[in-house]
Amino acid sequence: MSTIIDGKKVSLAIREKILSETQLLKAEYGRVPRLDVILVGSDPASQTYVATKAKAAIEMGFEHQDHYLPEETTEEELLSLVKELNEDERVSGILVQLPLPKHISEEKVIHTIDVKKDVDGFTPESTGLLAIGEPCLAPCTPAGIIELLKYYEIPTAGKKVAVLGRSNIVGKPIAMMLMQKGMDATVTVLNSYTPDVREFTLNADIIIAAVGIPFYLRGDMVREGAVVIDVGINRYPDATKKKGYRVVGDCAYDELADKCSYITPVPGGVGPMTITMLMANTLKAFRASVEGR
Ligand code: GUN
Repeated sequence: MSTIIDGKKVSLAIREKILSETQLLKAEYGRVPRLDVILVGSDPASQTYVATKAKAAIEMGFEHQDHYLPEETTEEELLSLVKELNEDERVSGILVQLPLPKHISEEKVIHTIDVKKDVDGFTPESTGLLAIGEPCLAPCTPAGIIELLKYYEIPTAGKKVAVLGRSNIVGKPIAMMLMQKGMDATVTVLNSYTPDVREFTLNADIIIAAVGIPFYLRGDMVREGAVVIDVGINRYPDATKKKGYRVVGDCAYDELADKCSYITPVPGGVGPMTITMLMANTLKAFRASVEGR
């Protein structure tokens, strides 16, 4: 039987820590972290994400400001808001909700965010710092995976890790983090052109699935005792549900659960960690600003 990694429990423990640290900093500096979130347009999924982030910020005792901009906002207008928030000393963290409307360059917008306020960890500067192992604001989902591994005391040194997916948000940064000194894993990053994926996954001690394909990782692709981290959040048709779908991961959980030593469920595994790490990054950015680092 495998241990089910409880992302909700770990997330709650980290949130309690953030809350108490925030109270201490408030007592010391008379200020709290502030998270500013920008949403352009009215995509319902993005609106839900932004509302969830605001709720978490309030629960942490942070200040927060949402900036709702209309779909027809120009790139120039958005860039000037980002620059304004870069300069605003009250703002600890800036997050521009993606995707942006097609007429706006996401790259240009992300590249404009001050590295000190880059709580998503998406800017080239943050990516570079992460790559060379210097202190930085790391992308939230991979940072959440590292926290889960640490909480469950899952060793990574000398372990073979297969990362399925090479996105800038999950695959590349988690590979970078796991190969750093201190984590010391041997990492292989797979993509859709990789021949014989099974050859790599069967050989892996830890598998991180971030491909966005429901049930991609099957029982016969994983060896006995492996650790499986499922980053997928996919909508899968299900007529028995009111919405007509249910959320499933990238792993065939039922085929894997008895085989693995540890496994993350979907929902309730990696998912709850992402927004918690966003709060952790906002606190970190605030601390660096008040402590002059
Ligand atoms: N859209 C979906 N996920 C994310 C995220 O983690 N950060 C931002 N900025 N936008 C997103």
